[in-house]
Amino acid sequence: MLYINDLTKKYGSFTAVNHLSLHIPEGDLFGFVGPNGAGKTTTIRIVCGLMKASGGSVQIGGTSAGVGSKEMKRLIGYVPDFFGVYDNLKVHEYMDFYGSMYGMASRDIARLTNDLLELVNLSDKKEFYVDTLSRGMKQRLCVARALLHNPKLLILDEPSSGLDPRARVEMKELLKNLHSMGKTIVISSHILSELSEMCNSIGIMNRGQLIMAGRIEDIMQQVSGKRRIHIQAASGVETAVRLLMEQAGVAVESVMENEIIITDNGSDAQLSALMGQLIQNQVVLRGFYREEGSLESLFMQLTGGGAQ
Ligand SMILES: Nc1ncnc2c1ncn2[C@@H]1O[C@H](COP(=O)(O)OP(=O)(O)OP(=O)(O)O)[C@@H](O)[C@H]1O
Ligand SMILES: [Mg+2]
Repeated sequence: MLYINDLTKKYGSFTAVNHLSLHIPEGDLFGFVGPNGAGKTTTIRIVCGLMKASGGSVQIGGTSAGVGSKEMKRLIGYVPDFFGVYDNLKVHEYMDFYGSMYGMASRDIARLTNDLLELVNLSDKKEFYVDTLSRGMKQRLCVARALLHNPKLLILDEPSSGLDPRARVEMKELLKNLHSMGKTIVISSHILSELSEMCNSIGIMNRGQLIMAGRIEDIMQQVSGKRRIHIQAASGVETAVRLLMEQAGVAVESVMENEIIITDNGSDAQLSALMGQLIQNQVVLRGFYREEGSLESLFMQLTGGGAQ
């Protein structure tokens, strides 16, 4: 769906995006994550045709149209990181304004406005002035506006920034909903855990470069492979330790009374098979768990721990 090939953007002698290549397949909910100044907004603005690249190319949905062309813009719905000021525009007039910019018929705009406002839960705000909406509502209105011309690809730049926890959850639900309706979505954020809960794939960007990209399960797997697992046994600890030491890829780190700590590089399925084997050998398990929180620490490690 979206192909970014060897994209580079220089501001004077400063390289903001450095030979970035990325493919986002149709139907993906892709999270673009990186610390402040990583180059996310720059990349997004180039893809949306709002800025020229210094090198490389962007292709969307099989069209050979150039970035910034009308044809390409029709394929994209863009929700920017900052919402402009719209004095004296009511919610439905705002939708009208954007619909007519896309050359849509008034009747179609009116019908779609009703449907989309319902989708983003703003039906009761139709007659309100845009400036009187809360930030979370404005963000949702922006999503509705970006969907008016039925784009194939929806791109949102930090849609959750400045939102309270409840509004964040609402935004997340809205995006998941759109994803299940078949939209291809790209969302940027500097919070990895927020993206990992809703995206099916992510790319981690730092200092203009893509340092890791893939399906969320694969990335989680790489992280969880390094995680420690605590196994608590009511009895049969010695048998358990012996069996665990015999397993390839498992290292027993410590044994304290009834708790054994191991590291393994297997999948969740392999881990539960291993626990099954312990039970079959008369080990009475009280519980087992993987240590949490490594995803965020991986991100800090990969991005050098902070903003540029
Ligand atoms: N118009 C500009 N002129 C010069 N440098 C710029 C310009 N726009 C961005 N930059 C620089 O390019 C780098 C990438 O900026 P960009 O806004 O793309 O980052 P970002 O990943 O979106 O960060 P944030 O999380 O803060 O939104 C930064 O170092 C920034 O200072
Ligand atoms: Mg940005």
